[in-house]
Amino acid sequence: MARDDKKSKPASSAGKVPKKGGTVVAQESGSRNAPIINIGIDREDRAAIAEGLSRVLADTYTLYLTTHNFHWNVTGPHFNSLHAMFMEQYTELWNSTDVIAERIRALGHYAPGSYAEFSKIATVPDVPQDPPKATEMVRILVKGHETVSRISREFIPVAEAAGDDPTADMLTARCTVHDQTAWMLRSLLED
Ligand SMILES: [Fe+2]
Repeated sequence: MARDDKKSKPASSAGKVPKKGGTVVAQESGSRNAPIINIGIDREDRAAIAEGLSRVLADTYTLYLTTHNFHWNVTGPHFNSLHAMFMEQYTELWNSTDVIAERIRALGHYAPGSYAEFSKIATVPDVPQDPPKATEMVRILVKGHETVSRISREFIPVAEAAGDDPTADMLTARCTVHDQTAWMLRSLLED
């Protein structure tokens, strides 16, 4: 599809793109000096996908921060194992934020990256102010991973419909990680 060539001028490629049913408005990047993005994905589709990815990024970042906080603040008889497990999990989440954000950039949009933006669009609740007991931490993380998995899964068909296989593959991989992590955490709570 070469619709981008016909429809857009470089100067008009910068600025806001109307939102498509979400709470995020993906902001398109661009400059008169740079060629118009032409990767075979329609401009509106890129905006919709970037919007979905922005939500996944905000939730992943919030879950990352929660997990790192719990790594610091966990207490109780299972301190050692939970402290180590949370480190493994926050490291994976942290690394994934870079991949998600850079996919947004590859689609021609700016990636959100501030607490103000993340708090506006994240579905995962912010880190509790008072550190909860260890089992409550695990429960919060189960819910967090399930939430990010649901949000990611919601946007796989959007990416697929636009022919954006790299984003669909990336979101599928994120679902695999979140589902598996949720299972492992959930198992800690089962008798
Ligand atoms: Fe540490």
